[in-house]
Amino acid sequence: MDDATPDLDRPQAPLAGPPGVTPGGAVDLRGRSFLKELDHTPQEWAALLDLAARLKAERRAGTSRRRLEGRAIALLFEKSSTRTRAAFELAAAGQGATTTYLDPAGSHLGSKESAEDTGRVLGRLFDGIEYRGAAQATVELLAEVSGVPVWNGLTDEWHPTQSLCDALTMTERCPRPLAETSFAFLGDGRGNVAASLLAMAALTGMDARVVAPPELAPAPEVLAAARAVADGTGARLSVTSDVEEGVRGVDVVHTDVWVSLGEPESTWDERVPLLRPYRVDAGVMAATGNPDSLFMHCLPAFHDLETSVGRAVHARYGLEEMEVTDEVFRGPASVVWDQAENRRHTIEAVLVATLAGLDA
Ligand code: CP
Repeated sequence: MDDATPDLDRPQAPLAGPPGVTPGGAVDLRGRSFLKELDHTPQEWAALLDLAARLKAERRAGTSRRRLEGRAIALLFEKSSTRTRAAFELAAAGQGATTTYLDPAGSHLGSKESAEDTGRVLGRLFDGIEYRGAAQATVELLAEVSGVPVWNGLTDEWHPTQSLCDALTMTERCPRPLAETSFAFLGDGRGNVAASLLAMAALTGMDARVVAPPELAPAPEVLAAARAVADGTGARLSVTSDVEEGVRGVDVVHTDVWVSLGEPESTWDERVPLLRPYRVDAGVMAATGNPDSLFMHCLPAFHDLETSVGRAVHARYGLEEMEVTDEVFRGPASVVWDQAENRRHTIEAVLVATLAGLDA
């Protein structure tokens, strides 16, 4: 298991964005929502990454300032979370803001009060709203009616706070700028993590490959939207069902759970046989041909039998590991704990940029 802290004093590779873009240039994100990657320009994305790196360095150095003193943030979760909730709460508290956690069991959302009415109410009470739930349309509606910045903490379609975190992690851990870095995502290419990684790669000029069975290839509209941005940034986005071809030469191998939050139990019957050949194991890492290739996973991960879901899948299908082997997950290539920590710093950047400004 690699929980080594990156050396922030060593020279860092230039941050994201196509060559020639100056992070923090004329970009102003105050009052903006953060709903999906492709709502933003490459310059805005680069500025967020630059701010996240600065906030992380400040926190490490003990020089953090409280840029959001007196602000109030609503955390609206219709799905469970460990990292995203914790990261929003810590990021807000670290900047001096307060948070109020609301879920369907403890609020009227979805039962006695519509998303529209909830958004209008929360917009009068809070300075910003985080939302995690199924429909992208809901987070878009909240942004439309609330009058305050709304941040997408995961929908079925997109997971932009995760891809921002992943971009920061690759910036820190890979030897070259993102525009010269490549990754392969192995798993369900139709899921929110694959979609967000493709969009992030398009914005940052990366070489991104989705490696998935044909049945689970990315949605054509997601690929087309990402490729339209890639035309301007030089990103290379590809899709293949061939694992060896997909991972050849990459700097990073990403994967995600085979069945996402909220998908029905029966989904396992379809996904296990489809995705079993796409498990990240030592052979996959070796097939990159890159001895320094890294492993990343947004977490939670099914790499052993220490969870009730893992044991249930083992009982039904005989699998002791799913999307990644325990060997790779705990091995020297794994940077999953860096990723988990970076949820906080990148979410802090989104809060600061949209509520106080990039230069606050
Ligand atoms: N990666 C991620 O979104 O984690 P949580 O589901 O724990 O928030």
